[in-house]
Amino acid sequence: MSPSRPRIVAGNWKMHGSRALLRALVPAVQQGLPAAGRCQVVFCPPAVYLGELAGLLQHPRCAVGGQDVSAHVSGAYTGELAAAMLLESGCRYAIVGHSERRRYHGESSELVAAKATAALSAGLLPIICIGETLADRESGRTWAVLSAQLTAVAELLQQPRASEIVLAYEPVWAIGTGRTATPEQAQDVHAQVRNWLQEQASAIGKPMLAGQLPILYGGSVKADNAAALMAQPDVDGALVGGASLQADEFIAICRSAD
Ligand code: 13P
Repeated sequence: MSPSRPRIVAGNWKMHGSRALLRALVPAVQQGLPAAGRCQVVFCPPAVYLGELAGLLQHPRCAVGGQDVSAHVSGAYTGELAAAMLLESGCRYAIVGHSERRRYHGESSELVAAKATAALSAGLLPIICIGETLADRESGRTWAVLSAQLTAVAELLQQPRASEIVLAYEPVWAIGTGRTATPEQAQDVHAQVRNWLQEQASAIGKPMLAGQLPILYGGSVKADNAAALMAQPDVDGALVGGASLQADEFIAICRSAD
């Protein structure tokens, strides 16, 4: 991790948990988290719990995030949530482009970029996910896939609030499988993403941007592998699934990022 970039650990609950878990876990995590520390801790529970979560937050380093956001400002889009609504429910962040959204809901990189734009324009920080499948990796197509996913993101760098973009590298083969990328594999991709950012940001006259944007790693992050991942120079935090549902595990991961 670089000393100058923000560090973030975000817990993506996906469609897990309950109101009872929220009421037990959020206070426990806040209690176990030292007041001073480098990383921001984000809880991303299912949307129906966001309002209650916001009311439970007391820790200066904790924040609320949505798991998705609509690309539209408002309108007849049944089931969708506008960025302004997330903001009003206490959110500071919104995950976009998670591989489960891309896979089960057919979301394209262009749609993901539109969602990120909507989030940024409303004042949220988008956590933009990218990641390759095992077949992509085994056929040597990792960077081809990631760079295609990133192409749609390039335009976002022009936005006035572009310095608030967060990227998350989540190899699909590491999500929920217990098969974490090695710290070297993660660093290798993060460095490629950073180089890509450098080229894009320089081309539009914003060279500083590349060094400012945090790149989180996600995929089977646990208490026992978090420190080694976060020791990598371009890994600026974690996007955590399963382990974010257990207070002790999640606290340990956050401490590794401090
Ligand atoms: P796991 O940590 O359960 O592998 O999930 C990772 C993830 O998809 C977070 O968004």
